[in-house]
Amino acid sequence: MMGSVSYENVGPVAVVAVDNAPVNALSQAIRRGLSEAFARFKSDDTADIVVIVGAGRMFIGGADISEFGKPPQSPSLPDVISQIEACDKPVVAAIHGMALGGGLEVALGAHYRIALPGTRLGLPEVKIGLIPGAGGTQRLPRIVGIDAALRMITSGTPITEGDALETGLIDHIGDGFDIREAALAYAQLLLEHRAPPRPISGMPRATDEEGALQNWRTKLEHSLRGEVAPLVAVEAVEAAVGKSFAEGLKEERRLFQHLMDTPQRSGLVHAFFAERAVSKLREIADVAPRDIAGVGIIGGGTMGAGIATSAVLNGLAVTLVERDTEAAEKARATIARNLDAAVRRGKIGRDRRDEILADSLKTVTDYGALSDVGLVIEAVFESMDVKKSVFATLDEILPRGAILATNTSYLDVNEIAASTSRPEDVIGLHFFSPAHVMKLLEVVVADRTAPDVVATAFALAKRLGKTAVRAGVCDGFIGNRILSHYRTAADHMVLDGASPYQIDKTLTDFGFAMGPYQVSDLAGLDIGYATRQRKAADAHPRDRYPVFADALYHKGWLGQKTGHGYYIYEEGTRAGRPDPQVDQIIAQARKEAGTSPRTFTDDEIVRRYMAAMVNEGARVVEEGIAQRPLDVDVVFLYGYGFPRWRGGPMKYADMRGLDSILSDIRTFAETDDHFWSPAPLLERLVAEGRNFDSLNQR
Ligand code: NAI
Repeated sequence: MMGSVSYENVGPVAVVAVDNAPVNALSQAIRRGLSEAFARFKSDDTADIVVIVGAGRMFIGGADISEFGKPPQSPSLPDVISQIEACDKPVVAAIHGMALGGGLEVALGAHYRIALPGTRLGLPEVKIGLIPGAGGTQRLPRIVGIDAALRMITSGTPITEGDALETGLIDHIGDGFDIREAALAYAQLLLEHRAPPRPISGMPRATDEEGALQNWRTKLEHSLRGEVAPLVAVEAVEAAVGKSFAEGLKEERRLFQHLMDTPQRSGLVHAFFAERAVSKLREIADVAPRDIAGVGIIGGGTMGAGIATSAVLNGLAVTLVERDTEAAEKARATIARNLDAAVRRGKIGRDRRDEILADSLKTVTDYGALSDVGLVIEAVFESMDVKKSVFATLDEILPRGAILATNTSYLDVNEIAASTSRPEDVIGLHFFSPAHVMKLLEVVVADRTAPDVVATAFALAKRLGKTAVRAGVCDGFIGNRILSHYRTAADHMVLDGASPYQIDKTLTDFGFAMGPYQVSDLAGLDIGYATRQRKAADAHPRDRYPVFADALYHKGWLGQKTGHGYYIYEEGTRAGRPDPQVDQIIAQARKEAGTSPRTFTDDEIVRRYMAAMVNEGARVVEEGIAQRPLDVDVVFLYGYGFPRWRGGPMKYADMRGLDSILSDIRTFAETDDHFWSPAPLLERLVAEGRNFDSLNQR
């Protein structure tokens, strides 16, 4: 599958069509085909104008990802685009569906651009650690200005045809749905007006009167958490202001090549492929999902209301059951507030919001209302007894074939399943808070869960715009199990002398969205307390207990919701400031434990935190809780604020070298061999000279 480019004369118009299903990627065959088509157009005396169109559902979706990492084959895309632009007769790009990356750069090589309604145009290269490398950073600012160009290039987010028209990226929005017809009509119009060729490279340099370059630099330095490509994009766009077109292209090439060689690119490319691989599971390859007409939700608290919001926003009817009328009304009000926020962000219109509340959301107190739903998600209190009684009721009421899902964070899904008469229909659907925002869904497959129930869970995730990862049953599944391990490593560092503030700062500098103590404050210290209580029975005499965390809990300092946790939160702020009293409480805890505090370098903090994360990640893979290391990576990228440009914890370990991680663990074990023992899988891989990625292919 390499695709082809066709050339056809329609009166005075030459139509060049790119055909390379599914996304008309710019493979070598397509680049060569374009080059040949434009050579033909040049000497075609019957053609006065040329239009480029995409066959099928879009214009051009970008580079050919199967060529990634292989030696470049000519003609190169920049050369093809220069050739297109150099035509002495007008060239029109007629865009429908999508023009992304190299596809949009081809359109920028044309002299005129039109798009159909519903089109998306973008330069997503930063998402894989690159910048546009075929003239995009030089041509785009010349026609839309520095600010609009930087918005597109540094975010990688596509814009609508309406925004494209407003900024000047396109010249016209075509009528109807047929791109070929719209293109021919527009070409006729240009011919009637004797429109000349209009190469962007011949236009004046972009100017930066508003100081947009500096604005974007400042903004990005605050938000990037170590990611480099968007800042390099600013540098490339700066060349469109300060240099000639030819010099600017050279600068773009130099910066592009530099990014090609960075480890960040490798991390981001891994993330890109990993998020596509998580849903490719052999066990559901040929399995049809069950039909679910609507969704039932039990419990409308933090999670239930969030899940309901996500479902109704994505067109599913929801019946939510609460304990009493007051709680049901409260849940409805929460969901309405979430929908209001969606209206404010322009995600839905006010009419749609009203329609959802009137027609798609039932909030009730009677389980009987669930008798015709195909899937129920339980989100009641985290207690086995409460959950079992809910499942007993569901088992009685729901028709055969309906799916019973639990949103439990830690509890044993096998035990819940076994309490029903239909364990094959029971599954865990572990959403993350806030459930209408967070992209991750852990699909927890119990011992007897039927394959079509798993397939339905993945189909539901897709419907909700979420990324689903398969997990097996254990305490905390993939994410929370690993979290609880590295969180313990952090608590040990605090007991031994590190301050929670140093730990948080070091880890956010590393690229995490938040450090572990900021996470505690966000989730609520009562959650951690409850977990410690629950696990107290299994405690080992050599476990080191974070007494300081209990002390904060007993003071009622539960985090952001009480305005005080590890940090103090002034009224209305979400950024906390360190509290000297917390330092004192910790000092007292160390005294009681008889430890004399020592200092930690930032490097040691990162090493201990990451070694704990990777070591437990290896156990989770070895036990089959996660099918592959990449599943662990995706869980952390989407659910735990792991820096995307590092690819995930297992990719990070591969890039650092597994022997380095293992040697750290062995060093740490010299003073604490109870907590620190190398995962057998990690030892085996190091002995065999392999990395985690070698396990990703299965
Ligand atoms: P919550 O306390 O905010 O909400 C629980 C809701 O369930 C309450 O509104 C309560 O009235 C209702 N409820 C209790 N028993 C009921 C029954 N028999 N029938 C109908 N409704 C009933 O709790 P939250 O945080 O929403 O947690 C719910 C579940 O989700 C728990 O299993 C928790 O472990 C899990 N979870 C929580 C996350 C979080 O960040 N809060 C993240 C992921 C999972």
